[in-house]
Amino acid sequence: MSQFGPEYVRAIAPYQAGKPISEVAREFGLDEASIVKLASNENPFGVPESAKAAMTAAAADLGRYPDANGFELKAALAARYDVPADWITLGNGSNDILEIAAHAFVQKGQGVVYSQYSFAVYALAAQGVGARGVSVPAKAYGHDLDAMAAAIDADTRLVYIANPNNPTGTFIPAAEIEAFLAKVPASVVVVLDEAYNEYLEQKDQFESTQWVRNYPNLIVSRTFSKAYGLAGLRVGFAIAQPAVTDLMNRIRQPFNVNSLAQAAAGAGARVNVALLKQGVIVRPVDAYGLPQWLRISIGLPEENARFIAALKKALA
Ligand SMILES: Cc1ncc(COP(=O)(O)O)c(C=O)c1O
Repeated sequence: MSQFGPEYVRAIAPYQAGKPISEVAREFGLDEASIVKLASNENPFGVPESAKAAMTAAAADLGRYPDANGFELKAALAARYDVPADWITLGNGSNDILEIAAHAFVQKGQGVVYSQYSFAVYALAAQGVGARGVSVPAKAYGHDLDAMAAAIDADTRLVYIANPNNPTGTFIPAAEIEAFLAKVPASVVVVLDEAYNEYLEQKDQFESTQWVRNYPNLIVSRTFSKAYGLAGLRVGFAIAQPAVTDLMNRIRQPFNVNSLAQAAAGAGARVNVALLKQGVIVRPVDAYGLPQWLRISIGLPEENARFIAALKKALA
């Protein structure tokens, strides 16, 4: 056993990622084309064409550092989720968000609460800062929110909830999460990890990204890795009120989301951003489970004409 580093770092069991196709091909002498990978909840449809085109254009500028503040991507996300841009933290995947939260809000020895059978990174992030990880026994393989609320004590600083959960696929309805949030002390930050939100049926969708308006201790975490097919690029984001967002941004690496990733993720909301750039504000309805749609209010005849002209340009 190494003598280097703190004891709590030496105690970490490394994250076991799904085996890459190339490794299995090498190990078992198989043809890569004959292997199917169903190990990492990746998107089998792969990278969208819009993201490929955005990356090709952005590649010309790779000699420069990325925008450390992610201005364009944050503007697109702010418009899409109807929150101010300074409520957004970008991450190198949402994994980064989970770790940034542990670094920003938890000191060595303080408590981090999560559920048994929830995403492995919660325990790792807690261990990485020397925190006391509290794994609350699951109920029917999912989160037992009553038991999690009861596990919060004076030293608890952070709670992670995966909804839907990985690996067990369990789902907690909106009312139960809200009842839980109402019970959590204001000094405890709750990360609602919604990496799989976009896969929910419309009846199960709820406007969690708007809940941050009511809960100053809530962080909603989302990713481009799953539904948007960009796992290899590593882009995720958090939505939270400015006091929490400010601390997260102090902890993150200045260039934690690379230029190609920013360009590709922004392309998911291309039409909306193109309209915004021309000074036309419409309403993305992602929160209603309609990510490909925009809602446009009828304005004065000259406003409608402005919109139609801008839309033609945006679609060109
Ligand atoms: C519940 C959950 N949260 C977060 C992540 C991290 O995803 P990423 O860092 O690619 O955004 C995963 C990945 O599998 C996950 O299952």
